[in-house]
Amino acid sequence: SKTHRHVFVVEDAPYTRLCKTKSILAVNGQFPGPTLYARRGDTMKVKVHNRAKDNITIHWHGVKQPRNPWSDGPEYITQCPIQPGDSFTYAVVLSTEEGTVWWHAHNDFARATVHGTIVVYPPRGSRYPFPRPFKEFVIVLGEWWVEDVNVVLKRAVESGGDFNKSDAYTINGQPGDFFPCSSNETFRLAVERGKTYLLRVVNAAMSAGLFLSVAHHRLTVVGSDGAYTKPYTSDYALVFPGETMDMLLTADQNPNPTGGLYYMAARAFDFLNTSNIDNITATAVVAYLPGSGGGGRPLLPPLPYYNDSNAATRFSFSLRGLWDKERRPVGLPNMFDERIVMTVSINELPCRHSSCAGPNGTRLAASLNNISFANPSINILEAYCRCVRGDYGVNFPTMPPYYFNFTADDQPQNLLWTRRATEVKAVEYGRKLEVVFQGTSLVQGESHPMHLHGYSFYVVGWGFGNFDKWRDPLGYNLKDPPFKNTVGVPRNGWVAIRFTANNPGVWYLHCHLERHLIWGMDTVLIVKDGPSPWVQFVSY
Ligand code: C2O
Ligand code: CU
Repeated sequence: SKTHRHVFVVEDAPYTRLCKTKSILAVNGQFPGPTLYARRGDTMKVKVHNRAKDNITIHWHGVKQPRNPWSDGPEYITQCPIQPGDSFTYAVVLSTEEGTVWWHAHNDFARATVHGTIVVYPPRGSRYPFPRPFKEFVIVLGEWWVEDVNVVLKRAVESGGDFNKSDAYTINGQPGDFFPCSSNETFRLAVERGKTYLLRVVNAAMSAGLFLSVAHHRLTVVGSDGAYTKPYTSDYALVFPGETMDMLLTADQNPNPTGGLYYMAARAFDFLNTSNIDNITATAVVAYLPGSGGGGRPLLPPLPYYNDSNAATRFSFSLRGLWDKERRPVGLPNMFDERIVMTVSINELPCRHSSCAGPNGTRLAASLNNISFANPSINILEAYCRCVRGDYGVNFPTMPPYYFNFTADDQPQNLLWTRRATEVKAVEYGRKLEVVFQGTSLVQGESHPMHLHGYSFYVVGWGFGNFDKWRDPLGYNLKDPPFKNTVGVPRNGWVAIRFTANNPGVWYLHCHLERHLIWGMDTVLIVKDGPSPWVQFVSY
């Protein structure tokens, strides 16, 4: 294994999209940011210089960082933010991940433009568990606001209302042909007929899962979140914010009738940006070479409708882990020591000033088990390790505070109001955990992509409606569950995950929809390390 060194300079840079130029935060001047390449087992040391006006931290999403929470990145959870003029070196320790993971800013709204891909190849001498692709493409899905994102954030936080919707989704930073002043820049994938390509897709968008499809072609998923899956072929994919999907695309069409041009299209699931569906479809072009074009217009693929929960769950829960003689589902508990049931809800809180822009004059909030997480004032990792009395409690409830019919149409009004607190969940090293995320229809039902730092987990079950602890576990998949770090909780439904708490540290757990995270849909898992103090595992 190797150590790779990188330098990230975070700085403002002018970018023009949708006919308007603004200054964005970018790494080394790039948007999307640089792609990092490594092999399983390597370490990357990334020195981040903050040359911007605001604080920054970087998180290595999907990198488990064994015994190395120090470099995980979320502000006030494992570090204080890097201030303007300062720098910080991260040690990014790749262990079992293989495939595609990514990195992004983990403070405020900075990740809107500060993000990039990490490609993790198999170790030397080992190969992909699928035929070697002719070529690979990194596909970063994102989102663009014409306005400064800090203004968007500030307005929402001050008014207590919803965030202004973005103006476009993007594919490798480009909205595509259906947007003004964009079509010259539309991302193009040049392909040769008969060849197979590996698409490494990252959803770095802030607001929504995205359906993705390529006209006249099918996609075969072979990996997700830095782990391989059994090949699964579909006309479309759904990628939630925080998820990655590795997919094979074979250029198997006869290019003549269409001029060899096909749209790759991405559109939001579960979240409507505008009333005009066509205006919200981001596109790239798959162009057969040589000789594509010829005056032809690319064909648009059909995409599931934005509220098609069945299409969403059909895709997400068809994924199976690729477990065989060489690859074992390490740490998959057949039995658990503890089950944590967590409601994931959107809520309303009473307004402090007279007029709030939330529903009925309240301000919007979000919660796990009716607690809206409040950021601590000193970072939890440091407080925990130095045994300083941090301003956090360890009383995160392992059950919702009330039992109610979580997914019924009308919910009791008093449940809307949550408690703001910094409560974390602490567990002993080696505990076998089951976490059931229970969606609710408070304010509105939505799919929440729940993400855990420091781990991947096995997705063992899911369903619509309320989790039934007697009936539902009978249907669990304990044979070949996928190994994920982000899972979409179905709208008005639940999902169950299992993992063994074998990575000591202070690990963030949150919804990867940025507005929900900001509203408090987050908590922290502290995994203890027995009686002895932690040893720093990595040298910087
Ligand atoms: Cu990509 Cu805390 O997440
Ligand atoms: Cu959410």
